[in-house]
Amino acid sequence: MNEGLTFDDVLLIPKVSKINSRKDIDLSIKLHSKINLNLPIISSPMDTVTESEMSISMARNGGLGIIHRFCSIEEQVKQVKRVKRAENYLIENPICISPQATLKEIKNKSIEYDFETFLVVDENKKLLGLISKRDYFLEENENKKAFQLMTPFEKLIVSYKKISLAEAKNIFRKYKIEKIPIIDKNRKIVGLITFRDFKNSLNKKASRDKNGKLLVGAAIGIRGDYLERAKELVRAGVDILCIDVAHGHLEKSIKTIKEIKKYFPDIPLIAGNIATTEGAKDLIKAGADIIKVGIGPGSACTTRIIAGVGVPQLSAIIKAKSGSKNIPIIADGGCRNSGDIVKALAAGASAVMLGSLLAGTDESPGEIFYLKNKRVKAFRGMSSAEAYKNKLKSTNDNPEYEPISEGINYGFIEYKGSVKEVLTNLEKGIRSGFSYCGAINIKELWQRAEFIKISDKGYKESLPHTINFLD
Ligand code: XMP
Repeated sequence: MNEGLTFDDVLLIPKVSKINSRKDIDLSIKLHSKINLNLPIISSPMDTVTESEMSISMARNGGLGIIHRFCSIEEQVKQVKRVKRAENYLIENPICISPQATLKEIKNKSIEYDFETFLVVDENKKLLGLISKRDYFLEENENKKAFQLMTPFEKLIVSYKKISLAEAKNIFRKYKIEKIPIIDKNRKIVGLITFRDFKNSLNKKASRDKNGKLLVGAAIGIRGDYLERAKELVRAGVDILCIDVAHGHLEKSIKTIKEIKKYFPDIPLIAGNIATTEGAKDLIKAGADIIKVGIGPGSACTTRIIAGVGVPQLSAIIKAKSGSKNIPIIADGGCRNSGDIVKALAAGASAVMLGSLLAGTDESPGEIFYLKNKRVKAFRGMSSAEAYKNKLKSTNDNPEYEPISEGINYGFIEYKGSVKEVLTNLEKGIRSGFSYCGAINIKELWQRAEFIKISDKGYKESLPHTINFLD
């Protein structure tokens, strides 16, 4: 019988290192020609982890979010669009309003889109003015119309041609304004450059597409509305699709990969989950661009207990890597700290997917509430009975057979602040791991990593011991 190992069974052996400073370590990875990340961390498509807010934060910090599929197609599309609208170099289709729009309507739009400035245009898209919070914040009459409140065209600084961000910077500096409408000779809207986007563009760490928009992924299944869902997500501008099913080494899954690649050959496709060499090979043969690995390691998973099936995650990564040649793999589930992430990467993963480590943050869906005097947020397994019921309600799935729950229904994660804070700490730990292994980048980590299997006593020694401490 083969032996299966996981993160706590091993340590990485320290190696001679030329690295002067941990900040010199390059954590970037290429998942696909269109998907480059500066931080090898992806947030899990779980309904208590990844919606638009999480995806925006993940991308701003160099990672990637995969929007979950446990909602209607319309809702998932809305989430994707929010991420794609969050940052731009040039907004090509700025949200415009009619001069007859009331202040009440403007305020509603502001909540819907999460920004405060709108271009006012006539029915031919000719620019009439601009309305920003400064124009309406103190106005009490909600029936006032946009044309009564806006800054009129004559007072605006506009550009009659597309300009670069560097040129925009000069205009922002010179006129101390925050918006530059781009128009043609007939005053028709061509685009909009905002100071906020300019400021965001200075963040070189962010994961972006070629137009400066943040990268975002979205999950689909293999039954019910999956094809329709994929089509709408692609139409909404999703950068990467993820076939997210518990048992990815299914013939139906393989058929879905082929189908998706036939319809959308240019959209990068993650497929999984698998935990074997054969699984990786079969999914790659079907056309998957990236393989997702993990059967049962997740914090909210009960698959191994219910079904008796799974492969300890470190062995699963090594097996999948041996069947994937140059195709990147994502280690999904089971990481409880930065040390686990370093081990997952060292075993051959290009990135890790995290659920519980990113749940309980400001950006994870759901409210903060008190449980035993602690601030917590809900967290649940996506194969749990509760998540399943919710999925049937919001998708067109109509299964003939009701599966048993393979996940925790009502879990809680202690509130931990912003995702940025969590990622910053994880990143520092990962840099430390690379440094001990003498690896300046992921390729060197793969070459240099040497694991040592440890005993229970070795594991105990790894934990803090002997001293008394408060937490
Ligand atoms: P972590 O450990 O980061 O794991 O919280 C996140 C991953 O766990 C998987 N997942 C599940 N697996 N039953 C399972 O067997 C479930 O109900 C379940 N929910 C999530 C998933 O791969 C996720 O990314």
